[in-house]
Amino acid sequence: MLGRHGWRRGALVRVRTRRDPAGVGEAPAVRFVHGVLDMAVVSFESRCEVEAPRLDKRRRRSKPATLTPGDRIGAWRVEGELGRGGMGTVYAVTHNGFGKRAALKLCHRNVLGPEFTIDTFLREARVVHLVNHPSVPDVFATGTYDGRPYLAMERLHGTTLGDYLEHHEVTKLHALDILFEICRVLAAAHGAGVVHRDLKLDNVFVLDTPAGSPPQIKLLDWGVARVVGEHDPMAGMIAGTLTYVAPEQIRADDVTPAGDIYALGVLAFQVLCGVPPFTHPNDLELIRMHIQAPPPRPSSLWAELPGGLELVMLAMLAKDPRQRPTVDDVMHGIVAARRDLVPRKPTLLSGVRAVPKAPPVDVFGRSAPIDLGAIIASLAALVG
Ligand SMILES: Nc1ncnc2c1ncn2[C@@H]1O[C@H](COP(=O)(O)OP(=O)(O)O)[C@@H](O)[C@H]1O
Ligand SMILES: [Mg+2]
Repeated sequence: MLGRHGWRRGALVRVRTRRDPAGVGEAPAVRFVHGVLDMAVVSFESRCEVEAPRLDKRRRRSKPATLTPGDRIGAWRVEGELGRGGMGTVYAVTHNGFGKRAALKLCHRNVLGPEFTIDTFLREARVVHLVNHPSVPDVFATGTYDGRPYLAMERLHGTTLGDYLEHHEVTKLHALDILFEICRVLAAAHGAGVVHRDLKLDNVFVLDTPAGSPPQIKLLDWGVARVVGEHDPMAGMIAGTLTYVAPEQIRADDVTPAGDIYALGVLAFQVLCGVPPFTHPNDLELIRMHIQAPPPRPSSLWAELPGGLELVMLAMLAKDPRQRPTVDDVMHGIVAARRDLVPRKPTLLSGVRAVPKAPPVDVFGRSAPIDLGAIIASLAALVG
């Protein structure tokens, strides 16, 4: 049942949950998983029993219609397809009137229904403006075509982080820089009261930049974001992708910025260690692992991982959202790890052989960062 919609494809999942009437743990009724999984009952008691899901053949057959170059979507002319996600297909388009080039996300017909309406899809435009960050693609037009809503946005040049990792030799330092850029956007979102809720490799876009320059990213797909304090159209559902979904999202508890931190922890595992912390060919078993299984130690996959960052990565994956670091804490952890990894020359100044080592940073990197540059400068002054 994983097949086409396994973690590699990163299908968006919507799962209706309900409280177990018997009051023992949670019993989500998995009602709709991206049109494939129709119904299953999971009981998260000690043994975590899983009933085999039934496949909904009717939904499986309905493929999203594809537009071809030359087709029109309102005033926009289709040039080709840029990508596809769980909610829509993104086309390269040009405006007929004034020639503006854009990317247009057209909602799949089969995701629309009473629980996911045209307005739910178009919410993304408002969320993007709430976050208002240069690493979020600008959305400048919305509309409907053939009963399906669309968003027209800034067209990006580059590739998703998933493809980028597959096709580039990415050093650990570069990977840390990418993670840091993702943190910056999350910090802006969380500051604006927005939880992205679907952070994953396919929703991070790495922009084409000249070789050797620092990475630039855009965080895509704010379609299932939650705005704290506002009515949540996804309340009672798991909105997210199973590889990344936090335990509290599965339990349909309140989704807070800590949910994004959990997904960031999964993504950090993928970027730095090459694999997500939890994988299983059975979706429901994967859900159980998020709730119950301890993550592997990242240093078992990357031996040189600085200890402080390992603690931060494990804290991001804490089952209890209150034990997770904030995005600022994660940024401190990345900066400290970067400093540990940058190769140091054995002798920096004549007569000064040992470079003082920074004390270990606490789990959340709260200790004052050591400024190596300042230390070296004062040693140099002493030596004359
Ligand atoms: N502004 C853009 N410019 C270029 N490609 C884009 C843009 N937005 C999305 N894409 C491509 O389309 C894919 C699906 O977009 P996304 O917004 O994640 O859709 P969904 O909400 O259906 O998951 C992305 O993974 C990316 O490859
Ligand atoms: Mg997406």
